[in-house]
This record gives sequence, structure tokens and C-alpha cells, in this order.
Amino acid sequence: MSTNGRRLCLNVGILADNIKLITVERVNETMAEAQQLSTIKGHIFACTKTSEKECLDRMVFGTNKIYAHKINRVKTGDKIFLLNVDTDTLYGSFTASSDGAFNLVPEAWNGKYPYQVKVEKYEETIKTVEKASKLLSKMGISWKESLDEHQTRFLLAYFGNPHEFDWGPLIAERFGTKRDKTGKMESEKPSVASTTLWDYPKQSYGKTPKGSNKYAGVTPAFIIYNLVQRYTEPNDLVVDPMAGSGTTLDVCKEEGRRCIAYDIASTRPEIIQNDARKLPLPDNSVDLIFIDSPYGDNIKYNEHPSNIGHISAETEEFYDELEAVMKECYRILKPGKVLGWLIGDQWVKKKFTPVGFKVYERLCNHFETVDMICVVRRSQSSNTGIWYNRAIRFNFYLRGFKFLFIMRKSAGDQKPEKKRKVNWDYYERTKKLLTPEKITE
Ligand SMILES: C[S@@+](CC[C@H](N)C(=O)[O-])C[C@H]1O[C@@H](n2cnc3c(N)ncnc32)[C@H](O)[C@@H]1O
Repeated sequence: MSTNGRRLCLNVGILADNIKLITVERVNETMAEAQQLSTIKGHIFACTKTSEKECLDRMVFGTNKIYAHKINRVKTGDKIFLLNVDTDTLYGSFTASSDGAFNLVPEAWNGKYPYQVKVEKYEETIKTVEKASKLLSKMGISWKESLDEHQTRFLLAYFGNPHEFDWGPLIAERFGTKRDKTGKMESEKPSVASTTLWDYPKQSYGKTPKGSNKYAGVTPAFIIYNLVQRYTEPNDLVVDPMAGSGTTLDVCKEEGRRCIAYDIASTRPEIIQNDARKLPLPDNSVDLIFIDSPYGDNIKYNEHPSNIGHISAETEEFYDELEAVMKECYRILKPGKVLGWLIGDQWVKKKFTPVGFKVYERLCNHFETVDMICVVRRSQSSNTGIWYNRAIRFNFYLRGFKFLFIMRKSAGDQKPEKKRKVNWDYYERTKKLLTPEKITE
């Protein structure tokens, strides 16, 4: 351990006392300082009993894939706190001395937490707050999300002196904060989905638009966000061959991924005009492809003669042309990497066409299946009372979901990525539940 590290651990040991020693002047100073830091952001990194020492010794905090989305938002100068989730203790305050990045110190925690930030002390000593979850909840802070300016300011001030901390402004602040229907503060980013049913209320999230919701057929941004979080690392290359209004571009920009977007008719200068059946990229060069293709000829995207959206999904030609796109996707993807394909079924003039299944069949000619997601369709034109009445009166169904097929290019002879071992288990029905006595109870 470095001398610096030893000093740190010692400091941590006497933190609680330090907090008591802070004078009222210092509180005022801290508050004044906090007010000056008008655009600061904060982040809480979690550690456990096992990983805490290494965090403080190295002055590097890390996280794994689950919270990888946080790391890209950490910028040099942001305020950082460390939460030991086992002991419910919060350590502060630190300043990020690097931007958040992947594998800054590859050997740390034996590679278990590769999304990392380097930190330095913000004040002379590191202090601790016990029963941290209670405090965070009182401040309306979730350690899983980045802290906004107010939350960061208040946490810094609290670390300045918990006993003199003035809760008044915080309470006023909290009630001024936008909340959703459940009373929770609105999160800047969607959470990464864990099940195969994805249902998000809006097309976009966060403070900046993703694509344009005026574009007919715009993709819900959270779909791309989920794929990017799960299947790429910062700086990876993502390609959208049918980019429309550029939702993929905007999501990737915010998440620190490189992105190339094409469309047969470009709607923005960053979108390159190109036919998806011939992609101008080398073989095995792309980390993730996302496509929200036409679902048939139901939407008039543009007049371009090569627009596949002019072809009816009731014809084999439609699937032949999409398969030409699939072949190109296969060629440019790196082995072992993923393609996400969003598609919906069709019910037109009393005729149902299982477009999803037909597209999936073609995808299987080239790719392995990772999984299949159902995405709830929310903001579509048939979400109205009139359409509801028609669906019941004439006995048909409105389209309630789309398929997202997650496909992988075979890794071939390439060595698969080193994976952590997961212990799978089976749930067994207990005898208790099956016995008649228990049921009639
Ligand atoms: C469902 S939209 C994509 C929406 C887009 N993801 C967004 O969020 O705005 C399908 C797109 O495929 C494009 N397209 C159709 N045929 C194409 C082709 N042959 N090559 C490239 N793009 C094509 C259309 O112009 C349209 O913009």
C-alpha cells in the first residue's frame, strides 16, 4: 500500500470525530463554496466490505456492467462519494481527477469493476456518514443515478457539518423538483430492462431530444439505449443502416459511442445517404448494429425509388430485400457482436401478416438468436378512443407490441469474451404448495 493510501485509511478511521469538530464558520464556508459551484454534478460509487480498501488505497472507484451507464457521465471535477453498501456508510467528499472511463486501472479488483474514475480528496480529510441510506432517502437521492447540482451541493454541505445542516432549503428544493405520478423524482435516464417485456412511457428521455418524434416511424430511444448499454463499451462503433430521424446517433453521442448512420433519404447532415443493401464499411468492423426497418408499405417515409418501405409486407420481395440488408449487416459486424432488429406485424384490410416471424426466419439464415423482446407500442396514431371502438365493433386487434430480435454473428473460431461464472438454479415446487391441505387453508 502507498504512503498516501495508509494515510487515507487512517483518516477514514477517525472520520466521525472529524465531523463533530467542524465549526460553524466552516459550514458557512462550505455553503458559500457550494453555491459558487453552480454547474457541479455528483456521483455516488458503491463498494462492499471487500472492495472498499482497494478503492481508497488506489483512489480509483469502479463499477460493473450493471451501472456502466453512469460512468460516461462522470467528468473531471465532478464531486464523488463512495457508499459501502454492506456497512451503509458514505465516504466523502472526493473530486474526480479523470473522466469516467473503461479500464483506467485494468488490474484493480482483478478486473471485476472495469468502469472507473480516478479521484482525489475534495477536503483535507475524508469523512464518513453512517446510516447513509436514511440520509440519501431524506435528500431524495438514489445512489444509482447521477446527482444533479442541488443534490451535490446539499451532500457537500452535509459533509461540511451534519449537525448544522439546514434542511429547509432542501425540502423546498425537493418539492420544486419534477416528479412522476408515483411521486419519484424524474430520472434522467431510463433503467436498463431486465425482462423480455419492454415498456417505457415516452419516445425519448433526458434533457436532449433523441431523433424526432415528428418523424413517422421514429424509434423509441430507450430501445437503442438498452442495446448500447448491454452490448457495447464506450467508444465502440455502432451503425444504423436505416437511421430515419437519427435516434441512434443521438443516443450514441450521449453514451460516448461512435456512430455511423445511413438512410436512403437523409434527414440530417450527419446521416449519410446510402442504400442499406450495400454498406460502405469493411468486413468485421462494427460492434453493434441497430435497425428499425420499414414494416411493409404502411408508412410513407420518402419518395426515394429504393425505399424498401414502398414494398408490401404481403409479398416475398419485401423479405428478400430485407435479407439483402441482413447479409450486409452480417458482413460488417465483428464476430460475436450483436444486431438488434425492430419490427412490427401488420393487420391491413382484414388481413393479418406475421411480419415479425417472417423477418425472424430470414435473420436465422445468418445469425444466432440471443433473445426476443416484446416492446409495448405506446405513442401511435391508433391509441385513440375511435380506434378502440372500431377494434371491438369489427372484432380485430390493434397492434400492441413490436418485436425486437437480438441476433449475434457467430464468434466462429474467435475466443469468446471471458465471462463471470453464473450459478444457475432450478426452482422446485415445494411439497407444501402441492398438498391439498395447504390449498384449502
Ligand atoms: C422505421 S424508419 C427508421 C426510424 C429511425 N430509427 C428513427 O428513429 O427515426 C425506417 C427507415 O428506413 C429507411 N429506408 C428504407 N429503405 C431503405 C434502404 N434501402 N436503405 C436505407 N434506408 C432505407 C427509410 O427511409 C426510413 O427512414
